[in-house]
Amino acid sequence: MTTPSPLTQDELKALVGKAALQYVVPGAIVGVGTGSTVNHFIDALAGMKDQIRGAVSSSVASTERLKALGIPVFDANEVESLAVYIDGADEIDGHGCMVKGGGAALTREKIVAALASRFVCIVDESKLVPALGRFPLPVEVIPMAAQHIARRFAALGGTARMRLRDGQPLVTDNGQHILDVTGLSITDPLGFESQVNQWPGVVTVGVFAHQKASVGLVGTTQGVVKTFTY
Ligand code: A5P
Repeated sequence: MTTPSPLTQDELKALVGKAALQYVVPGAIVGVGTGSTVNHFIDALAGMKDQIRGAVSSSVASTERLKALGIPVFDANEVESLAVYIDGADEIDGHGCMVKGGGAALTREKIVAALASRFVCIVDESKLVPALGRFPLPVEVIPMAAQHIARRFAALGGTARMRLRDGQPLVTDNGQHILDVTGLSITDPLGFESQVNQWPGVVTVGVFAHQKASVGLVGTTQGVVKTFTY
């Protein structure tokens, strides 16, 4: 008897991306996040595009993918609210608090998440953590404040590095830069997010605690597991 080979991380992402379709409200506009897991969701969403009005997207990359598949994309200013926002995470704890921004889309992700009544987080099992802080924390900053903000993180025991692309500071969809901060222990995600949000020059901190996930869907080798619902 042969043992079935374990699913790859990408197969787990595909599994959970497809499972998120059950949360899409027919006839409505759906909030769409960014990243490789969400890309699987977008591809699956194309199969029911005639049943939705369209999407509000959190990045240029997701917008391009949605449009290429014939899904209408609305500007966030055109909608008052969304029933659901579906997005991945770089890590998520057992309460639905997340670190996001590995794809540099954290600011628009937080904006679209804020419009939604329900945040469905889709991850493979490698993203589950007992406490936030393993993944380097992305922080979008105004370029002229970068060094000042890096010093503030150093005072908290962290090390902030400018994210580079082709040897130059990466420029986000919003024209800003990203610091990736290691060495932090985020024991109070809500308090931490509030604190860093106060620092001049911080556009968005990648802790999502004020807008935590309301449903957690996890792709595991045993199938998709719902970890919590708030
Ligand atoms: C994008 O900026 C991030 O917040 C993504 O949600 C996160 O990096 C997860 O990406 P993957 O689905 O590619 O792992």
